[in-house]
Amino acid sequence: MRERYTVKLVFILHNVNVINHNYKFMSDLEEKLRRVPKELFLHLGDDGGAVGIDVFSSRVDETGNFVKEDQIAEPNTAFSNLIEQLHEYQGRDVLIKDHCYKQLQKVLESSVTQVIKSEETPVEAKSKLIYGCAANVMEDVFADPRSGENINRTRKISCNIIDFALQSDASIPSLLALGSHDYYTFTHCINVTVFGIGLWSLIVDGPLEDLIEFAMGCMFHDIGKTKISNDILNKPGKLTEEEFDEIKNHPRYGYFLMKDYLSRDSLDVILHHHERIDGSGYPDGLSGKMISDNAKIALIADIYDALTTKRSYSAAQNPFNAVLMMKEEMGGFYEKDKFVQFIKMLGSY
Ligand SMILES: [Fe+2]
Ligand SMILES: [Fe+2]
Repeated sequence: MRERYTVKLVFILHNVNVINHNYKFMSDLEEKLRRVPKELFLHLGDDGGAVGIDVFSSRVDETGNFVKEDQIAEPNTAFSNLIEQLHEYQGRDVLIKDHCYKQLQKVLESSVTQVIKSEETPVEAKSKLIYGCAANVMEDVFADPRSGENINRTRKISCNIIDFALQSDASIPSLLALGSHDYYTFTHCINVTVFGIGLWSLIVDGPLEDLIEFAMGCMFHDIGKTKISNDILNKPGKLTEEEFDEIKNHPRYGYFLMKDYLSRDSLDVILHHHERIDGSGYPDGLSGKMISDNAKIALIADIYDALTTKRSYSAAQNPFNAVLMMKEEMGGFYEKDKFVQFIKMLGSY
């Protein structure tokens, strides 16, 4: 029987790097693993019907497909040994079975709070772990946005991003350096959250609880796109008027999807992140003071990330051009002082 593999090379290897960067953390993790339920030690393979883990190194063949090479870990490999073995494969690709990957991810997610606190772990290593975990959380959120577990995981990773972002000036740039230049809705949500947290701290500077609700709104801001057909979302070239109208429904779709699950402040970001102060935005055509600061900040972060990311219909702009376009073509969308703060923030990176 052919097994299904998911290629998760970047995130898992980065995570593995994190663990090996710091001996203290590694022993902490091992300590933690000693306490996790036995299933996490991943015994039995496919035939046993229980959880198994097989990890293989891989290469890309002439047709561009990933091909299995050596077996790095087999069923019964203890997690700590697996980490050690994976370390030797830094910079190379590995293949991990879908369900095993999810298990590894859970362990890594539960370690984030601790890693952020660790003084010995380099900023880049922390970023890789956080971004990798956030991307996985968002992938699950987009598959099942109303699951209580996914909402809790999003809140937890949002708090982690905030803690980390406020920890040092190097945090936000190092998180953003990991953002993919290809457009994936879930990495876009993380980037908007990261830019948003940076700008929020400069402009609003309110209590942490408010920042968390704002960050949750950013993480879920485009969740309404799950209600729109991929043919429209990924259409290369110009959209018809009807198609564009459908796209413009995503804030409302998102609002109604999450209305019973998120706070009012988070829902406001979802519903109003495309409103512009000159009234040209959607879905309600709000203007000026009718739009909250949270929604205004999310708009700036959203436009900047969309411009600097490759889309099905346009190439990625470099940061300089993106800011220039935002100034010259979209100057009426947001208040000047907020935009100036944003440029200052980018300039400090
Ligand atoms: Fe949006
Ligand atoms: Fe967006």
